Amino acid sequence: MHVTLRQLNVFHAVARHRSFTRAAEELHLSQPAVSMQVKQLEENVGLPLFEHLGKKIYLTEAGTEIFRCSRAVAQQLAETEQTIAELRGVERGQLAVAVASTVNYFAPRLLAGFSQRYPGVHISLSVTNREGLLKNLEGNESDVVLMGQPPAEHELVAEPFMLNPLVVISPPDHPLTRARRIPLARLQQETFLLREPGSGTRVAMERFFSERGISIYTGMEMNTNEAIKQGVEAGLGLGIVSLHTVGLELEMKRLAVLNVEDFPIERQWYVVHRQGKRLSRVAQVFKDYVLNEATALHGDIRSPRP
Ligand code: PGA
Repeated sequence: MHVTLRQLNVFHAVARHRSFTRAAEELHLSQPAVSMQVKQLEENVGLPLFEHLGKKIYLTEAGTEIFRCSRAVAQQLAETEQTIAELRGVERGQLAVAVASTVNYFAPRLLAGFSQRYPGVHISLSVTNREGLLKNLEGNESDVVLMGQPPAEHELVAEPFMLNPLVVISPPDHPLTRARRIPLARLQQETFLLREPGSGTRVAMERFFSERGISIYTGMEMNTNEAIKQGVEAGLGLGIVSLHTVGLELEMKRLAVLNVEDFPIERQWYVVHRQGKRLSRVAQVFKDYVLNEATALHGDIRSPRP
């Protein structure tokens, strides 16, 4: 059947009104133009669609089938129009995103993809550690937050979107780089550089060792991943960081990931907002984008390999 949208549209109006005259009025067409479209449709279908009895017209069986189809098409078009109108609304929105300092290693790439799709959205990005993000959520300061799993007692909606493996890093010439399945207890002979209190990486690292009854010797405390990496490179100690933060250093062989028993610490990144928060259209679209497309767009950062 070579049915055109135009034919279906005209037929739909005639069928709804059971009148060629009223359909012509609604569509601002002449009556012969309406008859012509219906006639062409009947030729395409190969069966009459209307029966004329006296002054009244009725749908034939084929007409009833085509009416079902034209109604579905009209409905679908109306829904699509609605979605497009909403997307237009996204074109000029504002979006406040807050991310963990560790997330910031891939957040710009994620935002770049979103920005390309919705170039009119004005995005503000705030970067801080886990504690800062929990305060941010409490104060309802951002639309959406990307962070490690938030504590259950806060009234938050948190959905995981990407793996976040934590690994032990060392300088590339450290003797342990040649060892396989280093026992956890062996780490007690090393010094570890620590992230600041309030860092999610630090909380995860402390929980991991305490659950296994291991107490490690800690050296300097530093409040950024960059400082930890530089410190490890300079030989100040070992570090535990998200694999997302060391892609470049591993490639350039300025740092190494140690093969330690029970590592990596498997964590996940979550997209988070307050429970009951009315997300703006832009925020909702961004959240869906992160949940659905972070993996597709950045498959390389979903499950990086040590
Ligand atoms: P952070 O990362 O260590 O930069 O706070 C957040 C997290 O890992 O939860």
